[in-house]
Amino acid sequence: MSETYKRYTITAALPYANGPLHIGHIAGAYLPSDTYVRYLRLRQREVLYVCGSDEHGAAITLRAKKEGTTPKAIVDKYHTLIKSTFERFGISFDIYHRTSEPIHHQTSQDIFKVLYEKGEFEEKETEQYYDQTYKQFLADRYITGTCPKCGYEGAYGDQCENCGTSLSPTDLINPISTLSGEPPVLRRTRHWYLPLDKYQPWLEKWLLEGKKGKWKNNVYGQCSAWLKAGLQPRSMTRDLDWGVDVPLPDAKGKKLYVWLDAPIGYISATKQWALDHGKDWELYWKTQPNPADNSRLIHFIGKDNIVFHCIIFPTILHAHGGFLLPDDVPANEFLNLEGDKISTSRNWAVWLHEYLDDFPNRRDELRYTLTAIAPETKDSEFTWKDFQARNNNELVKILGNFVNRVVVLTSKYTEGVVPQPAKLATNHAAINAFAQIRTHIHQIEESLENFRFREAQAEFMNIARVGNGYLTEQEPWKSWKTEPEATKTTLYVGLQIIAMLGVVAKIFLPDTANKIFGLLQLDGDPLKWDDLGREDLLQPGHQIFKGKAPLLFTNIEDAEIEQQLAKLEATKQQNAGVEPPKPEITFEDFGKMDIRIGTILEAARVPKTEKLLQFKVDTGLDQRTIISGVAEYFEPEELVGKQVPVLINLKPRKIRGVLSQGMILFAEDQDGRLKLISPTVQTGAGAAVN
Ligand code: 2FM
Ligand code: ZN
Repeated sequence: MSETYKRYTITAALPYANGPLHIGHIAGAYLPSDTYVRYLRLRQREVLYVCGSDEHGAAITLRAKKEGTTPKAIVDKYHTLIKSTFERFGISFDIYHRTSEPIHHQTSQDIFKVLYEKGEFEEKETEQYYDQTYKQFLADRYITGTCPKCGYEGAYGDQCENCGTSLSPTDLINPISTLSGEPPVLRRTRHWYLPLDKYQPWLEKWLLEGKKGKWKNNVYGQCSAWLKAGLQPRSMTRDLDWGVDVPLPDAKGKKLYVWLDAPIGYISATKQWALDHGKDWELYWKTQPNPADNSRLIHFIGKDNIVFHCIIFPTILHAHGGFLLPDDVPANEFLNLEGDKISTSRNWAVWLHEYLDDFPNRRDELRYTLTAIAPETKDSEFTWKDFQARNNNELVKILGNFVNRVVVLTSKYTEGVVPQPAKLATNHAAINAFAQIRTHIHQIEESLENFRFREAQAEFMNIARVGNGYLTEQEPWKSWKTEPEATKTTLYVGLQIIAMLGVVAKIFLPDTANKIFGLLQLDGDPLKWDDLGREDLLQPGHQIFKGKAPLLFTNIEDAEIEQQLAKLEATKQQNAGVEPPKPEITFEDFGKMDIRIGTILEAARVPKTEKLLQFKVDTGLDQRTIISGVAEYFEPEELVGKQVPVLINLKPRKIRGVLSQGMILFAEDQDGRLKLISPTVQTGAGAAVN
């Protein structure tokens, strides 16, 4: 069963500060780690839970380039957004740090220096791609080309996202610099390499032998494939101008490789937390004289981070010496969304901050769904309909309904006072219900200890199912008239089950746990995991909520789901180059526009402009001048005599000194080209369009 450790150091992958958080991030690393940490805390184990923003690497500089700003502006903007989104969602980090802090630069440089001084690095001069226009060496992500394995033309210098092969930039066929769009040239440069090949035998022993049957199959499998392929030395430095300086006198303009500095971010976050709280950071990261005093180090990550956390970072820690190694790395696979891969660049995502805006006070509903569909063993999928169904059919109907029924009946029959049960020791239905619940609790523990969160949460819901079954069978509303003692016993048992649900809900549904303890009027968080062994969490005579009890969950309506689906549909259309629909207007809004069929009498280019044409239009009411930016698409003479819709009550404005009185309407197709709209039959000038 569960081993106990002195303390736990729990890390969650540092998200790149280059975009907002989406549900894929949450399902991958943050929700499982937060759930696990809440479980550990409920068991009163000593735990430190760290995370922070990963602010270096090409992910950041590429984003800065795209937004036309500096890397510093990017990380400041997204660090703030990410940190506040985690807080709003209730992820319970002890510290959310950032890798741009001086303490982090110092910590990563110190570790690099120790390795350097121990002679761990191989210093090598190699040829790397260089952009002659931008006068800089190119990070792997800045080079694209054809994948030598599958022929995909948009492969990156470090990986082909089509077939998943890990690549070096020189593997690419026809490489192109994404900076200048030109083929890069090879240039000599000097770097410091971590000889992973030298550590291969150590890794085979520590990981392949030591973690077999312990680590999840998806994690162990990926690691053993890497080791089977044979490890190569990997450069720990880069030619860049954004990142942590290489702390050597002859390394001007060189930075630490982001995958060296990022995991060290866990250590620097711990140092900062220890400074803030008067603690000793080494207890969480260093091997202790007595191994029984060691912390248990666990990294929660997504599958794209496996090699860095299971092979490269442990090798760095081992080569340095004195550090703990990860005891487990329960990486998740990926979450897809409505049939497609989640993608920041294609805006195909449910952004967490938008979810929190759109569904206020529904944090647990998202937690519940994301745990229920967690990609623990293979990729899984989020759909809005499934989210709605899980809420309406499970949270509302099973958990919420049970709790509400018991609280309402207690209020009705005993004024909200926990009744005295009769002869519990011989009450088979009660004994049976408690026995089933004990089995489920045991299963929850077993599943959580082994990072099977889906299974654990399903067992939690099974407790509510036991409660519902028990209540339906006992029918306390029927026995009240004839056997009030039996009703009181049923309510007593039902209330104990609610208290147990409240305790377990602290792990999966923290807001719901608070609501349950509010209903039970238990202040000060008195119940812990070990109390689940008891069947008398609430004493007879204890007053619970009396009156019309608020519901734990309410239905999510179709309209709310349709709104979310419409948002995704708009994204799809936008990606396909179609203009997304504008917000709804009223008939009155539309009625304000006076659109008439007019005839173009004259058309001419506006001198010294490339885009403007000047028209004289017969609107049926008058002849007026209109200026339009359509010269790229039409020759003036081809428009003369044509009938067109004209918005005649648009406020006149001066364009190049000429008063333009209205607007001619054209159609704009997907590539932005304008087309003439004309009635198919000759129409009298001034005919209204409506
Ligand atoms: O993949 C990512 O988003 C990385 N920023 C994860 C880093 S995890 C750790 F090493 F910090
Ligand atoms: Zn490929």
